[in-house]
Amino acid sequence: MQIVRDIETLRQKLADLRAGGGTIALVPTMGALHAGHIALVAEGKSRAGHVAASIFVNPKQFGAGEDLSSYPRREASDIRMLEEAGCDLLWAPDADVMYPDGFATNVAVAGVTEDLDGAARPGHFDGVATVVAKLFNQIRPDFALFGEKDYQQLVVVRRMVRDLDLPIHIVGVPTQRDADGVALSSRNSYLTDEERLAARALPRALGEAASAIQSGAPVEEALAGARDKLAKAGFDPIDYVALRDAETLAPVARLERPARLLAAAKLGRTRLIDNLPIEPR
Ligand code: PAJ
Repeated sequence: MQIVRDIETLRQKLADLRAGGGTIALVPTMGALHAGHIALVAEGKSRAGHVAASIFVNPKQFGAGEDLSSYPRREASDIRMLEEAGCDLLWAPDADVMYPDGFATNVAVAGVTEDLDGAARPGHFDGVATVVAKLFNQIRPDFALFGEKDYQQLVVVRRMVRDLDLPIHIVGVPTQRDADGVALSSRNSYLTDEERLAARALPRALGEAASAIQSGAPVEEALAGARDKLAKAGFDPIDYVALRDAETLAPVARLERPARLLAAAKLGRTRLIDNLPIEPR
């Protein structure tokens, strides 16, 4: 695997890859890789001739008081995992390569960023859209892979790609989970043993609410039930438990189209998010 840290070398290595023929799939990450990220690499390999991953802990998507400085950094083990997964190129620029002095551009996607994580983390999705737009221009991939774990992020990226006519096929990959149902996340490493056990309540509460809604229970009642279970498990605050349209993220009062049940809540100092699909019967 080629490890590249400056734009000029990146252009050369990408030209070399393209000269051999074959398409390129991009897997953007912030590192501290786990089996969820590797599932994206595997999906990329099944779709394209070459897979490029990026590791960049993007300061623009962290708010004041968030975990930018403590975000886990494990580059050596990330490199081993990517090599094992058959990744061809790692793009790992420093912050001054991504955002040189004088950087002044912001990419803002309206609408789908306005609530849920957008409300809980002001400016977060501007940071995501800005860095993802840059990664797309730097790599010019044919495919880009994003996890459904960050469902609102996937919707934001799809909206941006459509709005800017970017010739990139966005592929969403289902959430990879531990055996007990908890979604894999780099931030799970912040959890104490006790919190890690309590974290099971999040997928469980979502699963129970999803089956209730699918069997015709009133939506608000099912959402309130899930909030109650999260509170009892020690989640505080609960930022949201919401049922949204799977494509537009508009609120859903009655299940008529594919929907998504989404939640975000804090366990101790760690903010966890999760979501599940709900299809009308
Ligand atoms: P990061 O949190 O490192 O996640 C990188 C990608 O891995 C995202 O598309 C995310 O949805 C996916 N992912 C994380 N956990 C997953 C899981 N359990 N199952 C499946 N996919 C999972 O998301 C970001 O980084 C950043 O916002 C980024 C897009 C790189 C922009 O900075």
